[in-house]
Amino acid sequence: MTVFRTVRGMRDFLPEEAKMMKYIEGRARRVAQLYGYKEIITPVVESYELLAAKAGEEVRSRMYAFKDLGGRKVALRPEFTASVARLVATTLRNEPKPLRLFCVGSLYRYDEPQKGRFREFWQSNYELMGSSKPEGDAEIIMLTNSLMKSVGLKNCVFKVGHVGVLRGVLNQENVEEKVQNEIMQLMDKKQYEDALKIVENAGTSEKCLVILKKLVEIKGSKVSQVLRKMKRQVEGYGRAVDAVENLREILKLVSETGEKIDMVIEAGFARGLEYYTGMIFEVYVPEMDIALGGGGRYDRLIELFGGEPTPAVGVAHGIDRIMMAMQKQKIPLRTEEEKTVMVIPVKEELKGEALKISRMLRGSGILVEVEVMGRRVTKALEDADRRKMDYAVIVGERELKEGAVVIRNLKRREQKTVKIERIVDMIKG
Ligand code: HAM
Repeated sequence: MTVFRTVRGMRDFLPEEAKMMKYIEGRARRVAQLYGYKEIITPVVESYELLAAKAGEEVRSRMYAFKDLGGRKVALRPEFTASVARLVATTLRNEPKPLRLFCVGSLYRYDEPQKGRFREFWQSNYELMGSSKPEGDAEIIMLTNSLMKSVGLKNCVFKVGHVGVLRGVLNQENVEEKVQNEIMQLMDKKQYEDALKIVENAGTSEKCLVILKKLVEIKGSKVSQVLRKMKRQVEGYGRAVDAVENLREILKLVSETGEKIDMVIEAGFARGLEYYTGMIFEVYVPEMDIALGGGGRYDRLIELFGGEPTPAVGVAHGIDRIMMAMQKQKIPLRTEEEKTVMVIPVKEELKGEALKISRMLRGSGILVEVEVMGRRVTKALEDADRRKMDYAVIVGERELKEGAVVIRNLKRREQKTVKIERIVDMIKG
């Protein structure tokens, strides 16, 4: 007989982990509310063309793409941004701006399974549509920081850059967009030498090559110092200088909030997705070398999908990776402990009474499991202990005649007879 297992790269989440994933999702949803992001639900299956348009070679080549039975070329979404941009280009075209949209769900990338890299994973995703202002970019960084704090993560570091710096230089050197994309892909993978080879082959000036080599080395956590170095380096490349100025404004706003956020500014930082046009960032914890979240500004995607020109900025957080980080930092879930009760009928004929009492308890918001295995009381109590339940409600004939049951406190190992109308108070009390 065949023994079925999960498909390679796919995982089951058992109760402990499922609870944690949903907890993080809940926190992310709360952050969305606090910042005014309205939740939407978009389909897992989208047209391949939409998803592939600006995903970048790395993501594009790893999409779960197939023809559906109607012969349409479709794919499982590898990210949310394309779907949200599609909506804003079509159905939400005439909505007043800014539009703040939140989604959460599963995504699919045929990545090589390894630590923190899965073929099915979850994101919380926030998109701010319609604002080209640095306060929009600052909001996305702040919101990410709020989520990290809200789940209790410590020592987060934001890696920040600006696509406009590298692209500004390459544009002025007339490097084709396609070639620029290749260069950015390699930079994203930190293959700087290969990236610089392509720059060289693209027929750029000697000066450009020197500048890019130096840019790659400029990084540090002293924001104004790093920005000054960057600006000096790209002198003469107007758009690149503007990009540095833009980054300065964004980071100034972030610092003016009074929130202390650890940052590393990297001039040669690039991200795999091709739609970015401005500030880009990722967030890390020291215990892991993979990003917990990433995002940035993409001002031309909605237009590319046939919508009005709409500047946009957004971020997605990997829920699976946040869970891993919480486990590494040993952060407990801040959930309210609710009392759990096992209801046990003493004999067959009292099953109906047990169900009736269970219904009454649940109606008052108490978590109830009913004994459904036909076990005797002692066995049922052992089982309730094993399940770490707080109370057992034992429904017996003699007590019922008095309108009462026996309640056993499983932690303290004490029991007493209690009138049915008093059970809720006693358990909650
Ligand atoms: P991304 O950097 O591709 O950006 O993904 C964001 C986050 O999703 C990553 O930082 C990581 O935590 C998680 N993630 C990505 N791939 C995997 C994987 N294979 N396994 C586990 N977790 C993964 C985006 O997706 C953009 N759409 C973000 C964005 C929104 N930019 C603007 N708006």
